[in-house]
Amino acid sequence: MSDVKFLLDEKDMPRQWYNLAADLPSPLQPPLGPDGQPVRPEMLTPVFPTNLIEQEVSRERWITIPDEILQLLYLWRPSPLYRARRLEKALGTPAHIYYKNEAVSPAGSHKPNTAIPQAWYNKQFGIKRICTETGAGQWGSALALACALIGGLECKVFMVKISFEQKPFRRLMMETWGASCVASPSNQTKAGRDVLAEHPDSPGSLGIAISEAVEATVTDPTGQTRYSLGSVLNHVLMHQTIIGQEAKKQLAKAGEKQPDVIIGCVGGGSNFAGLAFPFLADKIAGAKMEVLAVEPTSCPTLTRGPFAYDHGDIAGMTPLLAMHTLGHTFVPPPIHAGGLRYHGMAPLVSQTVVEGLVKAVAYPQLKCYESAVLFARTEGIIPAPETSHAIACVIDQANQATQEGKQKVILFNFSGHGLMDLTGYDNYFRGKLADHHLEEDELAKSLKAISHLPKPKAQKTGKW
Ligand SMILES: Cc1ncc(COP(=O)(O)O)c(C=O)c1O
Repeated sequence: MSDVKFLLDEKDMPRQWYNLAADLPSPLQPPLGPDGQPVRPEMLTPVFPTNLIEQEVSRERWITIPDEILQLLYLWRPSPLYRARRLEKALGTPAHIYYKNEAVSPAGSHKPNTAIPQAWYNKQFGIKRICTETGAGQWGSALALACALIGGLECKVFMVKISFEQKPFRRLMMETWGASCVASPSNQTKAGRDVLAEHPDSPGSLGIAISEAVEATVTDPTGQTRYSLGSVLNHVLMHQTIIGQEAKKQLAKAGEKQPDVIIGCVGGGSNFAGLAFPFLADKIAGAKMEVLAVEPTSCPTLTRGPFAYDHGDIAGMTPLLAMHTLGHTFVPPPIHAGGLRYHGMAPLVSQTVVEGLVKAVAYPQLKCYESAVLFARTEGIIPAPETSHAIACVIDQANQATQEGKQKVILFNFSGHGLMDLTGYDNYFRGKLADHHLEEDELAKSLKAISHLPKPKAQKTGKW
């Protein structure tokens, strides 16, 4: 019988996070403040604790993981690497398909990999309460879990209304871990009230929920609240790089030299970066591999959005980030992959796309569900709707390898399970889901709203 899973011991767990910013061939463009000047780290102190701001702006290649954080990550890490032999067989492909199973965390996704360090650094800094937003509920539940495990931290979550309604069990998970959760847009903030005044039936979006969470943070009169983001920012992506570092060791155990293709779905970019960035260090040093970021056709940030300066939230409270964007007023259609409904993208991921190190592709939701169902019926685990985007791309890559007669090694990030997302599967099975195509005029309208903002330089070496 051939091996299907490749495990590491706790002692093999990475001791450092990898910071791709240290190795990028072309530099990141700095975030800009309201005056159009680069943001100085001290300007971020009302929003984030200083220890995390230091990580955000760091250009050190390796950052040591504190022992107390490792002890908490050991609850489910190192996560297993699986060889999807039964999926390979069903596809009749010569490709070797591997997936890193991040669904084994208590919250069911990769998100606790950064929730634990973020909560820990906040506590170290003396913070008493953390505010955040959540799309699908994965991030909110991960932060609720982290605050519970660390203790002494209140957690408040603004949850995108469409997910709040579709996924009551995610809210209950948050409450079980002791967090409070409100549907966004809400009446609790000015940002929420403004949206409701114009669109009383708004399904919400990550951009709106971020505005609410930031506002709730900076208006706390005690000064003891900070904001926490589950994706997009440099330090968040860095915390996820334990995934790719573990995967390297596990692929070696499986007898593979390196992957030919690496695939991850992208919402804000964190699970993709977590798997791909440690391998991108090799690609930058000359290794040959294809790295694919997969997004929904209904929210095609990397494939159709320009590389521009834009706010991370709808109310324009965040600094301007140099990233691919659909415009911060863009509200994506209410697809079930709630965690992929974000108008922007991590600046680090955007820069790798500008540089040509990473290629972006987009998939419609029906094809993603079809792929997820095949995965569930062969490998057994029911994927989160977000993860199904990566799987759709994996299946295409494996079929391409079959046509070319190549024994490619395909590695992807299984970012989360879909046990809390079965409403989406229900709608799929009952034929209630449709594909959404973003019309040109709709995109042009939301991009017009950012046309007055400064333009970043799209710098690249031309090597890839
Ligand atoms: C299971 C899962 N995968 C992927 C994502 C997308 O986020 P990111 O691009 O930051 O990994 C989310 C976000 O909620 C998620 O819950």
